[in-house]
Amino acid sequence: MTKIAFKGSAILNPVPAVMITSQNSEGRVNVFTVGWIGTACTRPPMITVAIRPERLSYEYIKETEEFVVNLPSASMTKIVDYVGVVSGKREDKIEKLKLELEASEKVSVPSLKDCPVNIECKLRSITQLGSHDLFLADVLSVSVDDRIIDEKGKIHLEKADLIAYSHGEYFKLYNKPLGKFGYSVQKKKKKKD
Ligand SMILES: Cc1cc2nc3c(=O)[nH]c(=O)nc-3n(C[C@H](O)[C@H](O)[C@H](O)COP(=O)(O)O)c2cc1C
Repeated sequence: MTKIAFKGSAILNPVPAVMITSQNSEGRVNVFTVGWIGTACTRPPMITVAIRPERLSYEYIKETEEFVVNLPSASMTKIVDYVGVVSGKREDKIEKLKLELEASEKVSVPSLKDCPVNIECKLRSITQLGSHDLFLADVLSVSVDDRIIDEKGKIHLEKADLIAYSHGEYFKLYNKPLGKFGYSVQKKKKKKD
């Protein structure tokens, strides 16, 4: 394998494509798409989101210090793209796309009803970085569509038909796992005679 070196860039791939709902102090709700998002900590659960200061969502989240990360299914990809190219400064995207909102459990910002997973977040800090600022938030509550939870209470995210964003394009996830956590070191079970 021969490698070509490029200058440093934000090429980490693939990333999730999620929709974040936020609200200002007057109760106006907005939604936008985010790819620069990551899990920061398991206990306590924390998330980071990189947001450009010119986004309307930046203003709203800074104001009320809450937001919801809504994980979309593949059937919602066109909506994901739309709310990621049109700003709420120009139009009310929720009204325009007739997106259904529902009350969240722990935050006053509503969640997107049609997304199978909603992650409710409370802002901890904003760190200025450069083009984007880093929002660090605590995850207060997670709501999951009961159709992807089995009788033992296990969540089957593979059934949520989630999407990934890779180098400017949206992809469906391959629904057959390549392996499961720890499979590389798992000992094979001996067959009984
Ligand atoms: C796939 C995708 C990923 C995006 N990721 C981010 C991101 O991580 N951070 C960000 O500030 N903007 C991101 N954007 C751009 C915003 O979603 C876009 O500018 C949006 O119109 C801002 O809306 P608002 O002004 O209503 O908040 C992304 C857009 C797309 C389509």
